Amino acid sequence: MPLIAAVAWWASPGTLRYATQRTVEFTLTAAPARLSLRPGATSDVLAYNGQVPGPTLELREGDRVVVHFRNELSEPTTIHWHGLHIPASADGSPFHPVAPGKQHDYVFTIPRGIAGTYWYHPHPHHRTGHQVAKGLYGALIVRADDDPLPASLREQLLVLSDNRFLDDGSIDVPSPQSAPGRVDEENGREGDVLFVNGVVRPTLSIRSGEVQRWRIINASAARMYRLSLRGHSFLHVGNDGGLFEHPVETNELLLAVGERVEVLVRGSGAPGSQSVLETLPYDRYIPQTRPKDWERTRELLALQYTADAPVPAIRIPASLRPVVALDTSRVTAKRLMVLTQHLINGQSMDLARVDVHARLGATEIWEIENLVGMDHPFHLHGFQFQVLDRNGVPEPFRSWKDVVNVRTHETARFIVRYDDHPGKWMYHCHILDHEDHGMMGVLEVK
Ligand code: C2O
Ligand code: CU
Ligand code: CU
Repeated sequence: MPLIAAVAWWASPGTLRYATQRTVEFTLTAAPARLSLRPGATSDVLAYNGQVPGPTLELREGDRVVVHFRNELSEPTTIHWHGLHIPASADGSPFHPVAPGKQHDYVFTIPRGIAGTYWYHPHPHHRTGHQVAKGLYGALIVRADDDPLPASLREQLLVLSDNRFLDDGSIDVPSPQSAPGRVDEENGREGDVLFVNGVVRPTLSIRSGEVQRWRIINASAARMYRLSLRGHSFLHVGNDGGLFEHPVETNELLLAVGERVEVLVRGSGAPGSQSVLETLPYDRYIPQTRPKDWERTRELLALQYTADAPVPAIRIPASLRPVVALDTSRVTAKRLMVLTQHLINGQSMDLARVDVHARLGATEIWEIENLVGMDHPFHLHGFQFQVLDRNGVPEPFRSWKDVVNVRTHETARFIVRYDDHPGKWMYHCHILDHEDHGMMGVLEVK
């Protein structure tokens, strides 16, 4: 994916270390475009800077970021920086729509300690799913100066998405009153065409013996991915909010909507051989609207080994970084969030209502109880949290998260601290159709 031009400013040599913040500027324009998303057809899309996905924004911890945004759509939009811990005024939530034809500068500083894989997408009231379906989403990577993984590892970014098309090539977004529209509203809109970085089944290359660092983003509106790389395991090193304390070996990864993972892939295959990254069947549905082909394994990309002789093994550190546990003895409130279809605690989203009042600096436990016969990936803006347990079973290890997939009839608990950034923050189910239909609430921190 092309990297957007970044203008960097560095303090001149000799200035004090604290003065060496660089400012990175980007220009992003959301506008209609006509693109070929899948071979043999062109579609009317909405795109950031004319591409789907939008440009990948590459940042470093400590950067001051200025995004000059222009809305050339015919409707209001925002850019939400999913997962970033930045001031509420820069969050691009439905509280701060940018009108058609208008410009807005998003200005924020990337804090230390959050290096990881993030993404950006629109967040206008009721229209997020529509705008994302039309092509508005992109990746954002934050790097750390003290990254513990070897800098020599080749990185691959995988932005996963799906879409659905009509015979004339147009993107199929049915009217909410139609039968397919009602299924989408219930299920969340899935598409039968799967994309990695906007391409159907691309091929990545790897050399035998090489270790690659993959950053994977689920940018789909509703589809969840149960990832498996044929003949390989993953070394899972990070989640939404960055690296773990220790790498964890696993054969499969479940990536709910909005979630990200970082994994190391060891090139254990022979020179010239091939593997495939697949998504295995995962039943997140209520029976009434479960897609007919849900049990089909789908191929996402091919991993092609070069003919070169194997490279020698590289050592991966057993310790990555501390993930300090939030202190449960400091918890001052417990929040219960009961999920029913399209509602949280029996209420539908209202921008004029504050659902949770919290104090700046407070540590709280949120208990998310899912009463519905389908999964709901629950997302909190602005603050990374630590999942404590699911149905009373403690999480196997600590990590920073901003989405927790609450499975059908499951109760998950997380701990969060509002260490700074007062203001109004959204929390919601990240199945975009659910969010757009009201499965969202407002947390005010002051
Ligand atoms: Cu990915 Cu409310 O956001
Ligand atoms: Cu978000
Ligand atoms: Cu939901």
